[in-house]
Amino acid sequence: MRKSEGDRASIHFRIERMREDDLPEVVEIEELSGLSRWGYWGYARELALPERSILLVARPAEPSPSRRVLGFLCSALVLDEWHIHNLATHPQFRRQGIARALLREGRAQAEARGARYVLLEVRASNLAAQRLYHQLGFRIVHRRKNYYADPPEDALLMRCDFADSAAP
Ligand SMILES: CC(C)(COP(=O)(O)OP(=O)(O)OC[C@H]1O[C@@H](n2cnc3c(N)ncnc32)[C@H](O)[C@@H]1OP(=O)(O)O)[C@@H](O)C(=O)NCCC(=O)NCCS
Repeated sequence: MRKSEGDRASIHFRIERMREDDLPEVVEIEELSGLSRWGYWGYARELALPERSILLVARPAEPSPSRRVLGFLCSALVLDEWHIHNLATHPQFRRQGIARALLREGRAQAEARGARYVLLEVRASNLAAQRLYHQLGFRIVHRRKNYYADPPEDALLMRCDFADSAAP
């Protein structure tokens, strides 16, 4: 543990594969993050498809009695496309490089399994996530009108071609 700043706890972490016993905390982070709801069984279904999914979590580097998941990435491979479904960091642990590290490891695994590019949708108002993706070489390629519900909003489709962008 490093020192805390305000209500944000500073922490060392490592990236690992998601396991079924991580799912209660994954769902908790999903609910705290305003993402479209996948819920326990949405992630459990992906865990049962390891040939196509890349599911990662960030954990405290030192085992902690209070928390085993700090952030997660849910993504899948479709031929040479890597598609990111969900990415979130627990609000107490944001701005410490956790999402960047999850994307970096996800990309390494996706490239090793034959992916050549990555696609994702992001809410048009989600400037924090867009800034993260821009930093990692993504660009906006399309706007999908009214893609999201609750609240309704356009999605920006963002893409990064691995051949054009060095691994972050
Ligand atoms: C977007 C999100 C995943 C970022 O997670 P994180 O672990 O805090 O991100 P990182 O610490 O790896 O940030 C990497 C970079 O992204 C950008 N970034 C991240 N959060 C930001 C914010 N709130 N405002 C502006 N830029 C931000 C910054 O450039 C940051 O680098 P810096 O801290 O060196 O300036 C997190 O805010 C989150 O869970 N949001 C809610 C869920 C969500 O929007 N998911 C994405 C759906 S497409």
